[in-house]
Amino acid sequence: MTSHVFHRDPRSAYPVAVRGEGCYLYDRDGKRYLDASGGAAVSCLGHSDRAVVQAIQHQLGVLAFAHTSFFTNEPMEALADMLIARAPESFDRVYFVSGGSEAIEASLKLARQYFIEKGEPQRRHVIARRQSYHGNTLGALAVGGNQWRRKQFEPLLIQASHVSPCFAYRGKDSSESDAAYAERLAGELEAAILELGRDSVIAFVAETVVGATLGAVPPVAGYFKRIREVCDRYGVLLILDEVMCGMGRCGTLWAFEEEGIVPDLVTIAKGLGAGYQPVGAVVATKKVYEAITSGSGFFQHGHTYLGHAAACAGALAVQQRLHADGLLARVKPLGALFENKLRAAFGSHPNVGDIRGRGLFWGIELVADRATKAPLDPALRVHARLKKEALAAGLMCYPMGGTLDGARGDHVLLAPPFIAEEAQLDECVDKLARALAAVLAGAAKQAAGPKQSVLG
Ligand SMILES: Cc1ncc(COP(=O)(O)O)c(C=O)c1O
Repeated sequence: MTSHVFHRDPRSAYPVAVRGEGCYLYDRDGKRYLDASGGAAVSCLGHSDRAVVQAIQHQLGVLAFAHTSFFTNEPMEALADMLIARAPESFDRVYFVSGGSEAIEASLKLARQYFIEKGEPQRRHVIARRQSYHGNTLGALAVGGNQWRRKQFEPLLIQASHVSPCFAYRGKDSSESDAAYAERLAGELEAAILELGRDSVIAFVAETVVGATLGAVPPVAGYFKRIREVCDRYGVLLILDEVMCGMGRCGTLWAFEEEGIVPDLVTIAKGLGAGYQPVGAVVATKKVYEAITSGSGFFQHGHTYLGHAAACAGALAVQQRLHADGLLARVKPLGALFENKLRAAFGSHPNVGDIRGRGLFWGIELVADRATKAPLDPALRVHARLKKEALAAGLMCYPMGGTLDGARGDHVLLAPPFIAEEAQLDECVDKLARALAAVLAGAAKQAAGPKQSVLG
């Protein structure tokens, strides 16, 4: 079949998705796929939520779009009210965009403008972390710390500094306590701030729980408390990127709730619209918002589809499902059950180095050797083969390579929908185990001799 679509990966032959029902997607040939990764941690309510679909249909019937430079709209106002009512007290305003990268771009510009309003125009540096992903637009890519994604665009990227991620499996010394590790990392951030100039940093940007590039890595206890202290010491804004880990994915509406701190800005997207509509947001504290309103009065930003009425109506219905219908409350117990199943199936697997996560957000890191934590040979492309093998078996999971440094390392990310039942968790574990066994057997054959290559 010829196609005129510029596909995400032109080398791939994608099945045509035609229908979604609950935890499953169906292709045109009638094949069924268990969506155990929510695409990329998006579809937290599964694929056919009637209440959400009806809310969007209703909104389209009355008002699809009214440009936000002329009007506000009811679903946008109601969604902002709902999010702020469930956010810590310091939060006051929501700036709605159409996805995660846009949310990050807006947060960076808002942070910069905050300091302009406050009369600190010399602040111009952003610090983020290596092995992070904040989106593919140029600003978001610049703060992101994934070498593989950044490399060829490097000359176009604004300057950003990167410090170590909080990645206990690989970054914490064996003799080090969580507290000492957190302290060391906070020290690294402080050193980076001082090197750039104590009053020249705008913001520190971090995923509360690292998603795509590390594979569901939660911070060690106390890490964000130390980070918050360092940010406060130097007047640096803390931007938490919860595009992937927020909106209930980790068991709490905001992933930072578990960290005992509150950021200055938080970005959300995937779980906000649950895939029913493209929507994202920057949630701002009163402090940041009031700096703008009591200064120039205008945030120098904007996109055509800001606060799109149908997108906000969809996200509002998602929020209602999470809260009024108790779906958020399912995440922790279901996540604990999932963790047990993952540990039982993969906990002593010779090629599984680490199983980590929170709520319904789990990562399995694959290694060549558990004792040394040596990664698999990147030439084997185990992550890519695992994605293909799992899909062939009717399982959507989210494997990724470059876990260590953008080039070496493999992990698989799992993010089942909050509506999953135990049967779907079992199906996920079972299909993943079989796909992994097939891929590792193929990789072992390939490693044994080039003539037997199974890479295809
Ligand atoms: C943490 C994080 N931030 C930002 C983004 C970018 O979001 P989008 O793909 O909607 O632009 C992603 C996407 O995976 C993400 O995981």
